[in-house]
Amino acid sequence: MQAEEIRERFLSFFEARGHKRLASASLVPSVYDPSVLLTTAGMQPLKPYFRGEEKPPAPRLTSCQRCFRTTDIENVGRTARHLTFFEMLGNFSIGDYFKREAIEFAFELSTEGFGFDPERIWITVFGGDEALGLGPDEEAIEYWRAVGVPEERIVRLGRDDNFWQAGPTGPCGPCSELYLDRGPDYGADSERPGDDTDRFLEFWNLVFMQYELREGDRLDELPQKNIDTGAGLERLAALLQGVPSVFETELFRPLIELGEELSGRRYGESFKVTRALRILADHGRGATFLLADGVVPSNEERGYVLRRIMRRTILQARVLGIEEPVLERLYGRVIELMAGAWPYLREERETVLRWARDEESNFSRTIEQGRELLAELVERARAEGRSEVAAEDAFRLHDTYGFPFEMARELLAEEGLAVDEGAVRRLMEEARSVARRGAGRAGQSAARRERASEVARQAASATRFVGYEQLAANTTVQAVGRDDGLLLVKLAESPFYPEGGGQVSDTGTLAGEWGRARVVDAVRLPDDQVLVCELEEGEPPPVGAEVRASVDVERRRRTMRNHTATHLLHAALRRTLGAHVRQAGSYVGPDKLRFDFTHGQRLGRDAVDEIQALVNKWIGASLPVRAFETTRAEADRLGAIALFGEKYGDWVRVVEIDDVSRELCGGTHVASSAEIGLFDIETETSSASNVRRIEAVTGPGAAELFARRSAALAELAALLRVPEHEIVPAVERLQRELKEARKRRQAGDGQVRAEDLVARARQVGDAAVVVEAVAGVEPRELVDLADKVRQKLGRAVVLLGAGAGERAHLVATVAPELAESDLRADELVRVAAAVIGGGGGGRPTLAQAGGRHVERVGEALEQAAAAIEQRLR
Ligand code: SER
Repeated sequence: MQAEEIRERFLSFFEARGHKRLASASLVPSVYDPSVLLTTAGMQPLKPYFRGEEKPPAPRLTSCQRCFRTTDIENVGRTARHLTFFEMLGNFSIGDYFKREAIEFAFELSTEGFGFDPERIWITVFGGDEALGLGPDEEAIEYWRAVGVPEERIVRLGRDDNFWQAGPTGPCGPCSELYLDRGPDYGADSERPGDDTDRFLEFWNLVFMQYELREGDRLDELPQKNIDTGAGLERLAALLQGVPSVFETELFRPLIELGEELSGRRYGESFKVTRALRILADHGRGATFLLADGVVPSNEERGYVLRRIMRRTILQARVLGIEEPVLERLYGRVIELMAGAWPYLREERETVLRWARDEESNFSRTIEQGRELLAELVERARAEGRSEVAAEDAFRLHDTYGFPFEMARELLAEEGLAVDEGAVRRLMEEARSVARRGAGRAGQSAARRERASEVARQAASATRFVGYEQLAANTTVQAVGRDDGLLLVKLAESPFYPEGGGQVSDTGTLAGEWGRARVVDAVRLPDDQVLVCELEEGEPPPVGAEVRASVDVERRRRTMRNHTATHLLHAALRRTLGAHVRQAGSYVGPDKLRFDFTHGQRLGRDAVDEIQALVNKWIGASLPVRAFETTRAEADRLGAIALFGEKYGDWVRVVEIDDVSRELCGGTHVASSAEIGLFDIETETSSASNVRRIEAVTGPGAAELFARRSAALAELAALLRVPEHEIVPAVERLQRELKEARKRRQAGDGQVRAEDLVARARQVGDAAVVVEAVAGVEPRELVDLADKVRQKLGRAVVLLGAGAGERAHLVATVAPELAESDLRADELVRVAAAVIGGGGGGRPTLAQAGGRHVERVGEALEQAAAAIEQRLR
């Protein structure tokens, strides 16, 4: 039975039993779920339903969800079953059926639907846990017996195995797993499910979700009992196809074969080769799906996971002896193989392949650069007679230059050098936890959201948002609460836009007989909102009070101009740079707009000018802006751009700017592009690797910028005493003159100084000696000066010292014939360096040193002078 049929059999089995089939959500979790980096299970996108925060489209659901687990990266290839990317089939009940039906469904589908021999099915159940205060799951055991599983094939396991939680906190519950006994070929009769060996393969996990896990192992009952199940498609395929591992199924074979073709090696030939081929196949699938979901390689978060598997793939290809680029071909084949089931892969093909090329060529450069740095480390360790390289150095190679540690360790070993791996791993872990802590603000706003949700729950109905059509409304108060000295007010109707999709919240006022309050923020809740206010006059409004709600009009208008301009900018970027450009974050406020997008290179002046001109052309054309609601499917058909990782329902709002742009967007926009007036890009920078950032202003903001620039130009023209259009040539002329003047002065100074110093040479024995402190000379010039003096004097020793800024510098140069007779520049410098509190070195004929004690240059020179005398006499 092939994968395609397995998917269909699973989903239609549950459809026939009243489940609504859901499309897979993105691998990038919805913006409302900050708890996970990537989607790791079918239940992940359904969390708000399980918690009772949102109403599900139906109480029974089923899906085939694309998943990615980072915890298994290191295991991939070593075992028959570990994968990073996989497809999870699942059936879910949101407060509908519970354990009995979940067990009956699973047993029926396994035996009748997939034809597994009931005698070979084993079950594990939760055996209880003291810390959680829970006993064995007798109920589940009872239902398994009832469907005919004998006692001896029901295994009780502890919390680690049979209690499922999606993270340290969140919805959870005891679970029960189905295993298939693959027979004596795969292991001894004494093996048992849960042993983590090959004989018993788990293929389905049923979670009886009934608690919310809080900090400190506290369990709260969920508002309803839920079912969450997960069956790995790849494992089912391996079992149904009777092959030893997931890698022999048709989901992987063609990828393994590509690796074989490119390398000339054979799967099964050795552990090392098999493992490398499996990694190519697994990571190839993972990276392709991540890229198609809009993730780009970087050093943070999801981007780091992606970069890591892309780079591991390249390194494993080298292990196989593949020298040519591999990612593009591999991902191309994944798309061919998987696009039937996952059509979005085909649509994102160009984007996926482009990042494959980019990352692979970047990585080659990294490797080259890394090898050079590594060579330096090796040289330094040798020179200092060490057999080990400092963990900090190896870590820096990894952290700053992206050079893989495994590779560094191997190359160092070849040079006979060790590195403390534990210490490097600790540094990596530290760096990661620092990165994870970057989320302080999120915690604060989460607390406010929590308070706002409580207020919202007191009201009978959701607030109706009327802010698309009007900027003021007469309405009533539905609920009131407090948070941190601020008022939380929920209205029946609200013209205030709550922050979302990058657009900031509206501000404004609430007024009524009770008094007046300033609206400073609005909290967005699923299909609802709560205002955050400061009381300015009177008393907080009682529930039921009438209010006049008014949005700050000028601020909102500026924001709308910036929002529409953001869509135009997005369209212009995709036209000019290519369809791989994706929104990676945005800020739309009254002051400016900021747009982050995925792209590998700096844009350059010409591209920025072109993009700006295109947006201004569209503004000049007075394009109509229109918003409409439609089905998600229709929006896709119209080619509307959706934000990656954003969660959309079946109905979506599309904002269309004539023929130029269509995006799914809930924001507020101007009616015609002409209202934007003017668009000006202020900066183009990078916000993370492979993510560029543009900041721009529009309308009045752009007019203000224009006025500021005009004033600055007028002032420049006045200072330079030229008309405005001649400013550039005038400045160029000044720069030229300045440069020449500097050159002349340096040459002159150098000349004077060198002659001066030559004149002050003393004769000691048969050599000329100059030991002098010279003020205000840069280290570079000091070397030139010393050299010049030495050459003029012939058989001579020249030692110069200078204090530039906070550092003292010394240079010694010695005629070669003297150096041979053992008056060495490097030794002179060493004597002097100790005095200025620093170090130095060089060759016998030329050496230099630097140190902190500027005030001791004179002393250092005296000591060196004494050493010279002694040698020459
Ligand atoms: N959430 C459970 C798992 O991932 C069942 O879907 O195993």
